[in-house]
Amino acid sequence: MSTLRLGDTAPDFTQDSTAGMIRFHEWAGDSWVVLFSHPADFTPVCTTELGKTAALATEFAKRGVKPIAVSVDPVDSHHAWVKDINETQNTTVNFPILADADKKVATLYDMIHPNSLVNATVRSVFIIDPKKVIRTTLTYPASTGRNFDEILRVIDSLQLTDSHKVATPANWKQGDDVVIVPSIQDPKELAERFPKGFQAVRPYLRMTPQPNR
Ligand code: BEZ
Repeated sequence: MSTLRLGDTAPDFTQDSTAGMIRFHEWAGDSWVVLFSHPADFTPVCTTELGKTAALATEFAKRGVKPIAVSVDPVDSHHAWVKDINETQNTTVNFPILADADKKVATLYDMIHPNSLVNATVRSVFIIDPKKVIRTTLTYPASTGRNFDEILRVIDSLQLTDSHKVATPANWKQGDDVVIVPSIQDPKELAERFPKGFQAVRPYLRMTPQPNR
């Protein structure tokens, strides 16, 4: 195990799950993936997080993203917990939960931070692109449930900035103005790429309407 960094290839693994045995890279196929860990089954914050992820299924699908959860409990426990999640969160969990009782995935992805939480995973998030490259990592403590709208917002930014020479400013969300990357300086290229124009607040801070809107 070594620390995984942005730009690294997401390690492949084979592990059991609520959807059967998963060979990770094969399962991911050409999709984006959100791989996210939870401290344990039948815990309150985790229950709300999995419920929220299930409720956002259409939003993940719209973006070509497959969510997959990790919890270091056996698959029978996961199945019983899913029943609870569905009942209490009024949803249907429709993505796999890895049964990582042997901590294979947790170790591979460095999800156990023993000085924070002994022997269980913290709330790690890995956003992985279709080439299996790790594009974002987030780490939250056990006491803080994640904001899944933020995870979708990061995916929106990654997908937009992969296809246009822009970056997204603080608190950006779909439809807001974006910034032009500093490497684009040629006036002809600027006019071609940004036909709606741009505002140079400073030479290095140029705002333009979201190009694909
Ligand atoms: C929870 O998911 O609610 C939780 C798990 C471990 C520690 C604290 C809270």
